[in-house]
Parts: sequence; structure tokens; C-alpha cells
Amino acid sequence: MKNFLNISEISSAELRMILNEAKERKKNREGFGTTAIDSDKPMNGKSMILIFEKPSTRTRISFDLATKQLGGSNIILNPDGIHYGKGEETLKDTAKVFSEYADIIMIRTSNHQNLIEFSKHSSIPLINGLSEKSHPCQILSDILTFEEIKGDIQGKTLAWLGDGNNNMSNSFIEAAAKLKFKLKISSPKKYSPNVEMIKWAKKNNADVEIISDPIEAVNNADCVMTDKWISMNDNVNKIKKKKDLRKYQVNKKVMNAAKKDAIFMHCLPVGRGEEVTDDVIDGNNSVVWQQALNRVHIQKSIIIWCLS
Ligand code: CP
Ligand code: NVA
Repeated sequence: MKNFLNISEISSAELRMILNEAKERKKNREGFGTTAIDSDKPMNGKSMILIFEKPSTRTRISFDLATKQLGGSNIILNPDGIHYGKGEETLKDTAKVFSEYADIIMIRTSNHQNLIEFSKHSSIPLINGLSEKSHPCQILSDILTFEEIKGDIQGKTLAWLGDGNNNMSNSFIEAAAKLKFKLKISSPKKYSPNVEMIKWAKKNNADVEIISDPIEAVNNADCVMTDKWISMNDNVNKIKKKKDLRKYQVNKKVMNAAKKDAIFMHCLPVGRGEEVTDDVIDGNNSVVWQQALNRVHIQKSIIIWCLS
């Protein structure tokens, strides 16, 4: 059984397969309505359970559309409305019950450990729809978007500015190793990738460079990326963190220091005027809406990979 919990757990060849399938399926449904079903109906008769422990716009809607386009159905659950690892029913028993009702599950959690615990007892595939440690679906959607515009990501240079120690930057580090691109991360020391991630990157020959100067970091970059300075799980002094990260804002000056045709990516939601200025996110080189759309296409191929 295949779970999709972290990029690091999936082989380069399989990641490439998932990306190619998304490109192919997207092409084959040009002109289709948003809920029109792909001709081969790979989820025919199958259902997906989606659990959101915390807010979501894109992940919620894109998984809903993904299952519909694959010819399946889904049920979206809020942990407060079900017995979910609280006093009255353990996660283990919840996983066993869900395995009787559905064919695949997605969980967005504040605690990555919940995914691990769930996957131990579930007999159907589990997808990580974001945890405090990683956001693998988003990263594959971003790579799909990058490749639609810039071609094969292998050998290209991507720069990440701001919080270098969150779920997005972790998954990008894992992807850099698997898909062989260069990743330059620029953040204050306090928000640099954590020791385990650095160790993992070294062990797996990831081409990851930590550069404190943001202008130097974006030099020669094909893509500049950032994320919210305060993530959903961040229990920090928000004012202090925002102040610490101010120098790492993506603005015109930063974009001008990257390659002339460099694209700007952001997973959204965005803190406008904080990690990025309006002229950049609304500018010609921004591809953020395409990234959001591609969540549908990549999740379809992640579901198919899990069910195969
Ligand atoms: N990018 C992303 O995962 O967005 P949501 O939090 O809206 O799902
Ligand atoms: N790092 C952000 C990503 C949101 C999609 C967060 O966890 O809130």
C-alpha cells in the first residue's frame, strides 16, 4: 500500500511518474468543465475521506475537484464533528473504521505524528494534506507549475527567502534531492533549516545552499519563492518574527537581482506587504494562480499513484 506523506519517502522515478501523469491528464481535459469526469474514470466507484484539523481553502477545494474529475466521490470531515483521537475513540480505531468506508484518506494535521499513527492502522492509502513538518502535495504542484513554464527542473536554480524552517521549505529540500535542482535558502540564522533537514540534505546529496544575503541568494535564480512568515502552527512572538524577517521580503529589488525572466511562486495564502509586495505577486512574473490551479491536477495523479 502506498502512502504519500513526505517527498523523501518516494523515489525520484515515482515522483517523475506523478508529474508526467498530471501533465498528460491536464492536457487531455482542455476545454472540460470543472467537474467533468476524465474519460477513463480511474476513481469510478471509489471514495475519499478528507479530514481538516485546521483551515484550508486550496487543499479542500482542489481535492474535492480532483476526486470528482476522477469519477469518484469524497466526504470532507471536521475533527470536531467526529470521534477523532479524542477521549472517546483512539486514532487507531478511527483509522480502522475509515478503512471500511473509503478507498483513500487525506489528513491535514497540526501534528505530523497523527499521520504516522493513522498510517500504522489504516489499510487504505493516506495522503498528507499539510502537517507542521511538510507539505508534499503543494511542492509537487509547484514543480508542475515550474516545469510548465521553464521546462525540466533538473539543473535549474530556485531561491527560497524568509522562513527557512517550515513545512514548505522542508519539502522543497527533499524535492531538491529527488529531482536534482539547486535550492538556495536565504533566511536569518534563527529561521534556517533545522539540523535534521540539513543532515538529511547532505546524506542525500541535495544541492542546497544556505545564503544569508537575500540579494546574493537570488542571483541566477530561475524562480524566487517565499511563504507566510507566520505559519499556522507557529507559536512565536509574531511581531518579533516579522521584524526579523523583514530583510527577506520579496520585492522588486529582489526580483531584479534574479534572472530577468525568473518567476515568482508562493503557495498562498499570502501576507501581502510582508513576505512579498503587491507589485511582485500581482506582477507579470508571478505564477501563483497557476500554482493554485495545479493543485487539482497534481492531486489527481497523487491519488492515482496511491491507488495503483
Ligand atoms: N497552499 C495551501 O495549502 O492552501 P490552503 O491552506 O488554503 O489549503
Ligand atoms: N507554511 C504555511 C503553508 C500554508 C499553506 C503554513 O503552514 O501555514
